[in-house]
Amino acid sequence: MNNAAAPTPPAPSYKPTDAASVSAHVSSLSQYSALYEESLRDNDGFWAKQAERLDWIKKWDKVSDCNFNEVSIRWFQGGKLNASHNCVDRHVQNGHGDVTAIIWEGNDPAQTRKISYRELHEQVQRAANALKASGVQKGDRVCIYLQMIPEMAVAILACARIGAVHSVVFGAFSAESLISRINDSSCKVIITQDTGVRGTKQDIPMKANVDKAIGQTPTVEKVFVVRRTGSIVEMKEGRDIVWQTALDSTSPHCEPEAMDAEDPLFILYTSGSTGKPKGVLHATGGYLLYASVTHHYVFDYKPGDVYWCTADVGWITGHSYLIYGPLANRATVVMFEGVPNFPDYGRFWQVIEKHKVNIFYTAPTALRSLMKEGDAWPDQYNLSSLRLLGTVGEPIKSPEWTWYHKVIGKGHCPIVDTWWQTETGGILITPLPGATPTKPGSATLPFFGIRPAVMTDQGEELHGNDVRGCLVLSGSWPGQMRTVYGDHQRFVDTYFKRFPGKYFTGDGCWRDPDGYYWITGRVDDIIIVSGHNIGTAEVEGAIGQHNSVAEAAVVGYPHDIKGTAIYAYVTLKTGQVASDQIRKEINLKVREVLGPHAAPEKLQFADGLPKTRSGKIMRRILRKIAENELDNLGDISTLAEPAVVESLVSGRVN
Ligand code: PRX
Repeated sequence: MNNAAAPTPPAPSYKPTDAASVSAHVSSLSQYSALYEESLRDNDGFWAKQAERLDWIKKWDKVSDCNFNEVSIRWFQGGKLNASHNCVDRHVQNGHGDVTAIIWEGNDPAQTRKISYRELHEQVQRAANALKASGVQKGDRVCIYLQMIPEMAVAILACARIGAVHSVVFGAFSAESLISRINDSSCKVIITQDTGVRGTKQDIPMKANVDKAIGQTPTVEKVFVVRRTGSIVEMKEGRDIVWQTALDSTSPHCEPEAMDAEDPLFILYTSGSTGKPKGVLHATGGYLLYASVTHHYVFDYKPGDVYWCTADVGWITGHSYLIYGPLANRATVVMFEGVPNFPDYGRFWQVIEKHKVNIFYTAPTALRSLMKEGDAWPDQYNLSSLRLLGTVGEPIKSPEWTWYHKVIGKGHCPIVDTWWQTETGGILITPLPGATPTKPGSATLPFFGIRPAVMTDQGEELHGNDVRGCLVLSGSWPGQMRTVYGDHQRFVDTYFKRFPGKYFTGDGCWRDPDGYYWITGRVDDIIIVSGHNIGTAEVEGAIGQHNSVAEAAVVGYPHDIKGTAIYAYVTLKTGQVASDQIRKEINLKVREVLGPHAAPEKLQFADGLPKTRSGKIMRRILRKIAENELDNLGDISTLAEPAVVESLVSGRVN
């Protein structure tokens, strides 16, 4: 297993303050424990009660019908609801139309927009009508390729309103990534923007990328183009439509479609251990409920709180905790177009002061990059509005946890380190801010209804505490993905084969002597770079597209800011000579094929790779070399050519 050693646990050292506990939805560990026990004892009863927080057009016949042996997962069958109604209409109908739904903070600090639930309601209905007019029907797939602009929320909710299945593709993805994702789910329509703005980049070619892709995406009929920057972009008559014009010229009334609880809500692609990303499919009722319930308890959300999740909507965190969860809970959310270091390293803290943010949810990688710039940046701003901090995406280590706690939270804000995955739809292991004593680096305890278990490589469950192994889930929860779009067998093989009857997360963990969970890293071929999931096979495939490359192998190694960074070993074709030029070109190739986030930090040209006699690359050895653990390479006797290792060690890139 590829597990970093977990640290020795300190005693639970950060108890929730009285101020955090007194008004919290769950205000003590004993209350959490009682509710947790209850949620396991009567799982269906627990979720039925929670489901009352949503509006149902028709009540469900059966709460759950899940069988991990047959890999069949269904929640709230027979129930009917609409996600956009739950996120928007009902708040307006209940008299909260004037509440701000979205505070949009542009890349340029001078640009801010506030959108009330009433305005959002109108925009969503107009957009839903515009989509319908362009031929989109219930069940059709719509690709959303946007930056962090309010239209992202409108587009998502408009799809949900008419029962179209959205597939958001992260705005930094290249045209090639866009092509494979659009084709995999046969999208009929793309929603994009002219160009994007992010940090110092003023003209990110969004529409131009779509234009590059569209020759190779035969199912696409229409392209909506949001005017964001006003840059001139090509518009093809009959196919390309200006978003604002389409919305202005349509009716502001559109009845929400009654969707079955199990109807798909969206597809979101995530990396897998083969080169092809998986289309993770989430279902309407269970997903929405799970996002809403977890947002309520984990962020202890109360009406009036200003809540900021810095994640991009292109990832699952943005789906669940910027759009669906908070809007279902009538929250006021901050949506931020920019980056933490533009115009300077004080930007996050300036936004918190400006909008009086109460709850702040970000990634450890962002904290590390800001921590290294010193305390003078946060110290310039008034952060006294903050009452709760959160992290997601990768393990948080003690230095940045402590910095977050002391310098940002001034010692009084609980930190929720939330562990979950694209596949889980919402948070599964997490502290509850008014209840759970925290240990820096541990995601602590399971959320209500969640049954984590620890397995040995041989498939035996490890009971009791202080055990290490593979993290699995022994039962379903409403937010669980239902299938890999178009490839159910891949769903079965990836998640249910290794430990039959259990969902395998792909993560290793340690359940410490107090029963707290510490995620120790991936045990498969996925690397988490700056909190983003990247498959080694995808990067290897992209490198392999360079003409000079014969073969490549990619591993992760610890990196101060990114958490883990990519180290690539590349063998060139015979006759090709390694050079800085080829190194640059390979890097560019990866950026072009996958996007900048997947580019290797280090690239070593190698005459050969360490392979077993059957030809399997021994990544364990490559990992050790990348990590500079040269005294600890392990058994290399099974290699076809053990001499390869020596030459790899001598050519190691520092
Ligand atoms: O390895 C775990 C890590 O991120 C993986 C899921 O990545 P993704 O599907 O992109 O979703 C990220 C946002 C939910 C997990 O399998 N991970 C996520 N959160 C944590 C984490 N590792 C440690 N601690 C966390 N809090």
